[in-house]
Amino acid sequence: MSHNLLEGKRGIIFGALDENSIAWKVALKAKAEGASFILTNAPIALRMGGVQQLAQQCDTEVIPADATSVDDLDALFAQSEEKLGGKIDFLLHSIGMSPNIRKGRAYGDMNYDWFLKTLDISALSFHKMMQVAEKRDAMNEGGSIVALSYIAAQRSFTDYTDMAQAKAMLESIARSYGYRFGKSKKVRVNTVSQSPTKTTAGTGISGFNAFFDYADKMSPLGNASAEACADYVLTLFSDYTRMVTMQNLFHDGGFSSSGITEEIVEMLEKQAQAGQ
Ligand SMILES: NC(=O)c1ccc[n+]([C@@H]2O[C@H](COP(=O)([O-])OP(=O)(O)OC[C@H]3O[C@@H](n4cnc5c(N)ncnc54)[C@H](O)[C@@H]3O)[C@@H](O)[C@H]2O)c1
Repeated sequence: MSHNLLEGKRGIIFGALDENSIAWKVALKAKAEGASFILTNAPIALRMGGVQQLAQQCDTEVIPADATSVDDLDALFAQSEEKLGGKIDFLLHSIGMSPNIRKGRAYGDMNYDWFLKTLDISALSFHKMMQVAEKRDAMNEGGSIVALSYIAAQRSFTDYTDMAQAKAMLESIARSYGYRFGKSKKVRVNTVSQSPTKTTAGTGISGFNAFFDYADKMSPLGNASAEACADYVLTLFSDYTRMVTMQNLFHDGGFSSSGITEEIVEMLEKQAQAGQ
């Protein structure tokens, strides 16, 4: 299924780590839709992942950049514009990491240096990439910038700990920078709030499988896959969504609007009967 939706567009895709990554799927689909783009990730992630293989498949290059480093981002934009042969039409921020989650710290036992790291990597990096892009005047008029979020920005989810604050900040940055970039260059800035997805970042959260099954049962369409998420992101990069900006867009099979579903009722009734 390809419609040349992104024919002639240039982009930078942050966050493809392995073939499960949402950014990996976006890259493959963006290529099929006619885009040219640079892939980037933190230097340490590039040592582990198969991103070079993805780059080959997409006929492109990987430029390492730690998304928390303004210098790295500045160099990344300079090289990307040069290699792609012009200004940028789309950016994907598909980056998230919490040292507190990685090390299993409870919400009442946060390491605050790590908390700041979570915010820097998962949220502030979004501001940094847009500020660098703006200062360099790297974006084309009418471009589109998307970051991936999660509903823990609005509601509490056990074990998502400091990532919930990172996602709230990420969505707030999308609104504030969306205003600024809209006024100056008609660039759209949105976040896509995705269902739980079986990726390295996702499955790192303790209790993820229960999380995943619950969301699946609570969504009339079921959980949205990484492929479906990539399709949605492509529409936001395309010219068909030119007036959509400063939004947090739920891509979750209906989870965010569901109170209770038949599946959950049945499950609880069965449990109650078993307990009688
Ligand atoms: N998997 C889920 O359940 C889920 C649900 C909703 C939203 N999201 C969000 O989707 C995005 C992508 O995550 P994913 O699920 O594809 O997992 P993933 O682990 O494949 O991707 C996370 C990426 O962040 C990169 N990263 C970490 N630190 C970095 C740094 N300092 N600089 C540059 N890159 C860095 C990692 O190398 C990795 O490529 C994240 O923002 C995540 O929070 C994921």
